[in-house]
Formats: sequence, C-alpha cells, structure tokens
Amino acid sequence: MLKNDLLLRTANGEATERPPVWLMRQAGRILPQYRAIREKLSGFKELVETPELACEVTIQPVDELDVDAAIIFSDILVIPEAMGLPYEMIKGKGPLFPKTIETLEDIDQLISGEKAAQDLEYVYAALRLTKQELNNRVPLIGFAGAPFTILCYMIEGSGSKTFSKAKKLIYQHPVWAHRLLDKITETTIVYLKNKVAAGADLIQLFDSWAGVLSYDMFQHFALPYLRKIATALTEVPVTLFAKGAWHSIKSIAESDCNVVGLDWTMIPTDVRKTLGAKQVVQGNLDPCYLYAPAAELKKATLQMIQDFGGSHITNLGHGVYPDTPLDNVKVFVNTVKEFSYQVV
Ligand code: CP3
Repeated sequence: MLKNDLLLRTANGEATERPPVWLMRQAGRILPQYRAIREKLSGFKELVETPELACEVTIQPVDELDVDAAIIFSDILVIPEAMGLPYEMIKGKGPLFPKTIETLEDIDQLISGEKAAQDLEYVYAALRLTKQELNNRVPLIGFAGAPFTILCYMIEGSGSKTFSKAKKLIYQHPVWAHRLLDKITETTIVYLKNKVAAGADLIQLFDSWAGVLSYDMFQHFALPYLRKIATALTEVPVTLFAKGAWHSIKSIAESDCNVVGLDWTMIPTDVRKTLGAKQVVQGNLDPCYLYAPAAELKKATLQMIQDFGGSHITNLGHGVYPDTPLDNVKVFVNTVKEFSYQVV
C-alpha cells in the first residue's frame, strides 16, 4: 500500500484534502545532485541505460522537494531507438538521429510491437528497482512520447521550430504517415504495458509538439493514436498531455484517459466551462512564473488552484526549465502542500 496515494486518488476522481503536486521534468536539470552525477558520466544515455543511476535521479526530487509523485528518469526517444533509429544526445543542442525516415521502405523496415519493446529491458529494470527503493512513499509515473511527437523526431532527426518536414510527409503521403503512426502506437502500447508490469502506477503521454498541428490535422493524425493508447491501458490511470492542443481538450477528455494535461496558455475557469467540474486536469502554471518573486509566485499558484476548484493535479504547464531557482521550485511545491480545500 502506498503511504501517499493523493495523486492516484485524484486521478481516479476522488475528492481529496488538497491537490497533489509534482513537476514535469523534475528528475534532472534543476537539482545540483543530478548535475553532480551527470558530470561524472560519459553522457545522458549512460544515465538512462543504467538502472541504478536512473533510480537514484528519479528519487532525488522526492527527497529534495517532497513532491507527491516520482517520474521515472528516462526519455521519450528510447522508442525510436528500439524501433531501429538510434539517437545521440548532443551537449548543449539536444537529440540527434543520424538515420531518419524518408521513404515507405524505411517505415516498413522499422521493428515494432513486442519485438521492439523487448529491447527496452533497461527501462523496466529501472522501474522495478525504483519501485523497490521508493518503498511505497509516493506513486511512480511511467511515460512515453505520443505517436505524433515520436513521428516528428523520426522524420526531422532533431528538434525543430516548425516541424515542417514531418508535416510535409503527412500532407504528401498521409497513408505512409498513418502506417508509421500505427507502428509507433503498437510499440508504445506493449512498452507501456511492460512499464505497468514493472511498477508504474500512472502513465502519462507527452504530445509535446501537438501545437504545430491545425485542429483538423490534430484530429486525424494525433488524437486517434492517443485514444488508442489510452483505451489499451486499462490497468492504471492515464494522463494525456497534448501541448498546444487547446482546440481539442474536449475530444481528449472524451477519450478513455483519466486526466487531461493542460499547458499554461489555457485559462482554468474556461477549461472548467468546457470540461465541467468533475474532469480531472493537470497543470498549468507557466514554468517561467518560477522566475518571479516568491510572493507573486505563491499568489499565482493559489489563484490557479482556486480557479480549477478541485479534480486537479497541480503541475506546471510544461517541463521546468534547467535554470529555475530551486528556492522557487520549493515555494511552488510548498504552497500547494500547505493548501487545503476546506478553507476556500
Ligand atoms: O520528467 C522527468 O523528470 C523525467 C525525465 C524525462 C526526460 N525527458 C529526461 C531528460 C522526461 C519525462 C523526458 C521527456 C521528453 N524528452 C520529452 C517530452 C516532455 C516535454 O518536455 O515535452 C521530449 C520532447 C524529450 C526529448 C528530449 N530529451 C529533448 C528535446 C532533450 C534536450 C533538451 C532538454 O529537454 O533538456 C532531451 C534531453 C533530456 N531528457 C534531459 C533530461 C533530464 C537533459 C539531458 C542532460 O542532462 O543533459
């Protein structure tokens, strides 16, 4: 039994004494303890692929910040790698794929499903170890990139401002795009089921680049695959976070997900008008608010909690930035932890 199950109670729609709080990208980046470990290693991949180290940096924010959940240290890019496209993490630049998808043959050659997911034993080992080391303190979140976001990396080979190469494939060869999205989806489902078997208590899908899509394209090339994964994961609660897809939060809520992730451009009171009081949501303070003076940050955090008015997992509207002052991360977390719904 979990000692702190606030996140799971909230995700399952129960009324709670206060909202749970954690931060997207809390493992790594902001903590000096993380940077100390990272400096001793050959690179990012060594950390991701060594279960003992991944476990250690997963638990660091739970120890240091006392957040209500741990998120397994890993990356969304392990899926394209397992499917046959290895990635490199270039210091100061980000991910790079030497080989990308250009033709239908490239898509047909990708490994998928069970066979690809088998390759990620190091992730499952990290989850098993972390679950054991956490000793039921807080729930452990598992995650994956959403199929559209993974397609972006497979085609572009790196980050992009526009993802126009990925969108070009969709407009010129929609049938190919669907074939690729199907293969990613099939792999992601097996992968996430394995993560649940290894100890993940909740699964979050990151559709980080959903915001480059029009409403129509999102509905055809992103949403159906998010829905398929949410439907397949019957064992644990699922959070769908499609950054920038403000136009489709109602469709997302109507899928089999438990929690709708919201970025900071969405207005809490409007979200409640659209989704109703009962829909569990997660988010959505602007990560840059953590650069503001502590008193203002505290005020904005409380305002957000009150505007959502329950059925809410407090988080930022995207990942915390590496240069965020740790003191303000603590102000954010502690403001939520000191809050109680009864006094509103
Ligand atoms: O949330 C967590 O703390 C768990 C760990 C986690 C990482 N990546 C570790 C990481 C998670 C959930 C991710 C997801 C991820 N990775 C996403 C989706 C989330 C989002 O922010 O939208 C995306 C798009 C990626 C791809 C990726 N990985 C990029 C673009 C980069 C480079 C830039 C950056 O974000 O730092 C990475 C590297 C990465 N992944 C780092 C960490 C801690 C930094 C590596 C380092 O220590 O140098």
